[in-house]
Amino acid sequence: MAKEQQHALAVPLPGQGHINPMMRLCRILAKKGVTVTFVNIDPIHKRMKELRQQQQEEEEQPIYASQEELVGEIRRARVPMDGLDLGQIVSMEAFFEALKKGLGPHLHQLVLRLNREGSRVTCLLSDMLLTATTQFVADAFNIPRIALYSSSQSTLLFHHHLMTDPVVSTEHAMEVARGQPRPDVVFAEGLAGLPPLIHARDLPHFRHHGDDNLYMFRFMEREMLLCYQTAHCVVVNSFDALERPAFDALSSRVNPPLYGVGPLVDSLEEKSTTSFWKEDEACILWLDQQAPLSVLYISFGSVTCLSYPQFEEIVHGLLSSQHCFLWVVRPGLLPSPPNGEKRSLDLFSASHGRGRIVDWAPQLRVLAHPSIGGFLTHCGWNSTIEAIHHGVPMLCWPYFSDQYFNAKFVEEEWRIGLRFNMTNECKMIERFEIERVIKVIMEGHEGKVLRQNAQKFKEASNNAILPEGSSCKNIQALLDSLHI
Ligand code: UDX
Repeated sequence: MAKEQQHALAVPLPGQGHINPMMRLCRILAKKGVTVTFVNIDPIHKRMKELRQQQQEEEEQPIYASQEELVGEIRRARVPMDGLDLGQIVSMEAFFEALKKGLGPHLHQLVLRLNREGSRVTCLLSDMLLTATTQFVADAFNIPRIALYSSSQSTLLFHHHLMTDPVVSTEHAMEVARGQPRPDVVFAEGLAGLPPLIHARDLPHFRHHGDDNLYMFRFMEREMLLCYQTAHCVVVNSFDALERPAFDALSSRVNPPLYGVGPLVDSLEEKSTTSFWKEDEACILWLDQQAPLSVLYISFGSVTCLSYPQFEEIVHGLLSSQHCFLWVVRPGLLPSPPNGEKRSLDLFSASHGRGRIVDWAPQLRVLAHPSIGGFLTHCGWNSTIEAIHHGVPMLCWPYFSDQYFNAKFVEEEWRIGLRFNMTNECKMIERFEIERVIKVIMEGHEGKVLRQNAQKFKEASNNAILPEGSSCKNIQALLDSLHI
């Protein structure tokens, strides 16, 4: 009997930092011969489609530069999202509740339709934080579900400790992290698979969402526990050589196999098809004109916001450092300016061409560019692992969620970056500190050492995705487990 064509239904969480790694994983699967139907909720599907159309019109080229490499196929599908207006999300709770109510039934209908049309869905691939929303669909059709966790393995392990270890708890973590903890306040010691000391300032939190903090922890923990009880396996956007102790520790504690399949990065010839904003291609031409290692790349990802006073401190620190910069000032990074508020941006005219501001950058190509000497980042996990993959040292500006934990690893464990010191009581990082840290990374001896360390991790990261590398082997093990 002929082998059935494998068909994965991929369902990302509707956020930039979750859709990107999901699509990159899907491309890997498609290169292995799997057919993928990539599902987005209506508003996201529409937004990406418009951008892809614009891009194709401008370039008159197919969207996948390496389409011929795809043996399987990536199809796009959309599902309606009743009751969810992405521009009007009042809380994370409302967001996840709307997803749970709205998404599951539509996915069920979609699988029914695909099966009826003769393209049977053979497995479900969905975000780990969509376990309650999607696992029942896999169960209803008796197909395996692969869960993608899009942050680090160590963060996943840390949450497991919070849920199961008698000496720590979520409540304790929230209590300790309240306010602006001093760098030396210790939260926990000797948690298996993690660094010897976890400090209060390393703890993940969602405080910028006000009351959502407890809800988010509880929500994530519920999803994770359910996932460990039900999923066929969990795949993580990381690789063994980067986080081996965490992989080992969690593997011995949970049932489903854990596969490190990262770094999930597209090849540089491949255009992103998942960006929420139009990528500024011209910035690459500008980078071409800059000296090697001379430019600081600055991006705060897709969610982080800055206040105007903080933005101005960065501008001043940046200009005083005298270094060149490429800065992503994404729509929404700053609050709508009050009348006549243009001072900060005007300051850039004082930079005499040393700086460039874009709405959104082709980040992988920027990080791969020889002129980039450092990355001021919010330490979202994708940005962190993308910088690791390209050997770029980091200046860490964590804002919420796992970003504090990632920054800890960047500075203390891997020694490929630095954190800023909060120098005052008003929760701001001041211009002098910003100037100091930029100079350390861009011109000092310490910066050189960080860059050398980053080069070692770059090599390890590139090795992981070679045919004999750990992540490549893990993808094959995953496919074998599905009998593909
Ligand atoms: C979110 C969370 O903030 C993060 O902590 C979590 O780990 C994943 O989900 P986000 O804030 O968007 O993600 O940050 P990040 O994880 O870094 O993802 C951003 C993605 O957008 C990256 O893949 C990056 O390459 C891309 N990007 C960013 C661009 O393509 N262009 C840009 O200008 C900026």
